[in-house]
Amino acid sequence: MRTQVAIIGAGPAGLLLSHLLERRGIDAVVLESRDRAHCERRQRAGMLEQGTVDVLRAAGAGERLDREGLTHHGLELRFGGAGHRIALSELTGGRTVTIYAQTEIVKDLIALSPEGRIRFEAEVLEVDPASPRVTYRENGVLRTLDCDLVAGCDGFHGVSRAAVPRAKVFERDYPFAWLGVLADVPPSTEELVYCHHDRGFALHSLRSPEVSRLYLQVSPDEELAAWPDERIWSELRTRFATRDGWTLKDGPIREKAITPMRSFVTEPMRHDNLFLAGDAAHIVPPTGAKGLNLAVSDVTALASAIAARYEEGSSALLDGYSSARLRRVWRAEHFSYWMTTLLHTDHSADAFARRLQLSHLEYVVSSKAAATTLAENYVGFAHDGP
Ligand code: FAD
Ligand code: DHB
Repeated sequence: MRTQVAIIGAGPAGLLLSHLLERRGIDAVVLESRDRAHCERRQRAGMLEQGTVDVLRAAGAGERLDREGLTHHGLELRFGGAGHRIALSELTGGRTVTIYAQTEIVKDLIALSPEGRIRFEAEVLEVDPASPRVTYRENGVLRTLDCDLVAGCDGFHGVSRAAVPRAKVFERDYPFAWLGVLADVPPSTEELVYCHHDRGFALHSLRSPEVSRLYLQVSPDEELAAWPDERIWSELRTRFATRDGWTLKDGPIREKAITPMRSFVTEPMRHDNLFLAGDAAHIVPPTGAKGLNLAVSDVTALASAIAARYEEGSSALLDGYSSARLRRVWRAEHFSYWMTTLLHTDHSADAFARRLQLSHLEYVVSSKAAATTLAENYVGFAHDGP
């Protein structure tokens, strides 16, 4: 089989790249190891930067997002039993963020894809960036896909990153993980609450007027079995408690999972005809809500670069892809690291470090300059349009 662009992975990065290329009349095949139901079910991100919403809307993938997405103008930082609003829109010239689940973006993009363009249950085993060619297994049979370019959008555990020789890796592990919960209970807040507490960080997010999304900092070796629903609600109540008696509504927990936290960047993001995008090239801890947004930003730039090659015969954008992306990636890496260390409780930290952390939190909520730094990074910078 032959195509112009072989895309590995049907996560948000691979699906959006395929869609953007299709709109430019560029042929692509998406190879995805899992089945469609699995891809549409995986609970993950929910906070979209304005630039991400703009890209999806401009690509004709924003219809349900516009109907069901929840627009937010601020968030709350809570610590010491009191909440402090960060007025995101006011501090960023009117920019907003939108709550719309990654699962829904994935469903929308799969629904827009022409029949046969995405091949589910097709696991890529090997990438040859020079030929270029991808070897995969479908229905137990080994097949090859010849192409002009390969887009490695296969996430952190994919195979494409290994095809970049002499790559430099930068990484950091954290002594924290997140226990994420999806609960059938109306949110107890209208805006997201990022909460710092001596016992650990907690986040109150939402999915709809009826469904809440909550996260608790736990230790990385924590077992899910140690967290029956009542313990989760009790711990959330303790961490979110305020001096003015805010109450957390509880209800049936539909799903729970523990996710480790890490920072990871591989450089460069290109070798020969292979281009990495999204989690295949970089991971951030989720506190800054940057992972999905960075994946969208990568493939928006990659789609423009690929289009320039086919439409104008110019490879300049493809040649500049890795260095341009890495500048944006490192900004998100720094912000995600900053939000994580600002808000989590490192139980091994000494008393001096704890006092510094509290002073930092006080500063962010009392200085317009510091709050603006948080706000402009959180709402994100414009993506390079296709
Ligand atoms: P993925 O979504 O991982 O997709 C990769 C795809 O490749 C998968 O479908 C996989 O099955 C497939 N694949 C892997 N190997 C192969 C192979 N060999 N052959 C074929 N296919 C293969 N980000 C935000 O921006 N905002 C948030 O609020 C946020 N919250 C998060 C909360 C949690 C709990 C977690 C875990 C993540 C969160 N993220 C958030 C991060 C975000 O979910 C990821 O950054 C995003 O999924 C990256 O998309 P991707 O397409 O690059 O990779
Ligand atoms: C969500 C996840 C995040 O990591 C975050 O920072 C904000 C919101 C969410 O899943 O809704």
